[in-house]
Amino acid sequence: MRNLISLVVFIFIFGCSPKKETYPVLNESVSGLYDSALAPFYHGVASGDPLSDRVVIWTRVTPPDSLPKISVTWEISTDKEFASIVKSDTLSTTPARDYTVKVDVTGLNPDRYYYYRFKALNATSPTGRTKTTPTGTRDSLVFAVVSCSNWEWGYFNAYASIADKNVDAVLHLGDYIYEYGVGRYGDTTIGRFNLPPYEIVSLQDYRTRHSLYRLDAGLRAMSAAHPLIAIWDDHEVANNTYKSGAQNHQPDKEGDFFARRDAARKAYYEWIPIRESDKHYRSFAFGQLASLIMLDERLEGRDEPPATPEEAQQQRSMLGEEQLQWLQDNLKTNAQWKVIGNQVIFSDLDLRAVYPKMPRNLDSWDGYLTEKEQIKNFILTNKIKDIVFVTGDTHAAWGIEVATDVSKTYNPKTSAGAFAVEFGATSVTSANDNEYKSTDTVKMMEKVMLANNPHIKYLNDRDHGYLLLTLKPDKAKAEYYFMETLRQPDKRERLEKTLEVSRGSTKLN
Ligand SMILES: [Fe+2]
Repeated sequence: MRNLISLVVFIFIFGCSPKKETYPVLNESVSGLYDSALAPFYHGVASGDPLSDRVVIWTRVTPPDSLPKISVTWEISTDKEFASIVKSDTLSTTPARDYTVKVDVTGLNPDRYYYYRFKALNATSPTGRTKTTPTGTRDSLVFAVVSCSNWEWGYFNAYASIADKNVDAVLHLGDYIYEYGVGRYGDTTIGRFNLPPYEIVSLQDYRTRHSLYRLDAGLRAMSAAHPLIAIWDDHEVANNTYKSGAQNHQPDKEGDFFARRDAARKAYYEWIPIRESDKHYRSFAFGQLASLIMLDERLEGRDEPPATPEEAQQQRSMLGEEQLQWLQDNLKTNAQWKVIGNQVIFSDLDLRAVYPKMPRNLDSWDGYLTEKEQIKNFILTNKIKDIVFVTGDTHAAWGIEVATDVSKTYNPKTSAGAFAVEFGATSVTSANDNEYKSTDTVKMMEKVMLANNPHIKYLNDRDHGYLLLTLKPDKAKAEYYFMETLRQPDKRERLEKTLEVSRGSTKLN
């Protein structure tokens, strides 16, 4: 009897004929938004962190069921028909990296377009286009500059429009995703609801949120058209993050901050097409014309923000000693333009007349005055010119002459006393003030801000979109584009403002 039972058990477990391996069904809560025509590449393709000889290419393969491993072949070519493939290889992805694929393709030529695609599960991905950076001289460079893209506030139409523009790279200055649950920060009448529906904390939560965002058709189009250079701001983890905590992190509810930060960072690197490193801050040379310095103002060295303007005078770090030294070393470059990718606004802003309860934005550089002073002094002592800050975070568009001391030494007519310019990109979708107040009230607030801050030459706190930064050997130009609507996919836009600065000057015209 025992032998017979053993035989039955043996047959039951191992079967009499070769049996197909099965796996549990993959739990993809965003699958209702998948476009079946793209299977299994629902999230499209992307590229990023271009250098003169390499670029990162990215995709995500979504299997119908869980698989322990998926074999993926990638190809990169100088033509879109893939008649001249310059490199190709096969690798595998696994659930350990959420089935994302990232390849740092080396051995490329400078200043060239490349086309790339992936093959997996008997399908071929859409074709992406990317571009390496130049090494010598260039007549011009164009960057699209974006920040603050929130799913529930609307469609990423700015991204869709950028896909059609001729740019060298897209600079994303942070708040690529937001951490909130449904309806907590957004306009639910638009019909875009966060997944997961609650505030994200775990690794799976952050992965799902990234996956959701990448299903926006505008984001997919921009990703397939241009390389991305992204830095995180706070919402990639939680609101007002600093190196050891966040305003929107309560340990009694959400557990250990560092565990949450590590989960957010892992998902970010899985889903964003940039090079992975211990250090998020990094620089990019665009030949002689520009050096791009991307700062990490959140996780690297930021101390907790001050609670009062008086406390902002105390020694407090935004970058941390090592990154500050690195920034100073990088500012000594011979490049004609020094572009600083900056999350929070660098210029001094007097907010007293519009926000009496918040006379200074203490989460911005105005809360970190000693370190800001150090950077100003370094630039002045070393007579470094042609610095352009590009800034995100505020959900408003700005053009500012960065003054050493607005009230004492700055001349708003000549721009004497200014040492750099700062261009702030408005949000892709996140609310600015007229989502909460009437447009007339916000226009009045803008006027009051301009009157009290003569170094601000342009401010728009009502619209959403992006800016195009064009660099030429003799001048830099910022063009502020705003979208007609966020309520449905729609690429209509208007160019509202253009500001220019000549090399050697800080005067905005
Ligand atoms: Fe934001």
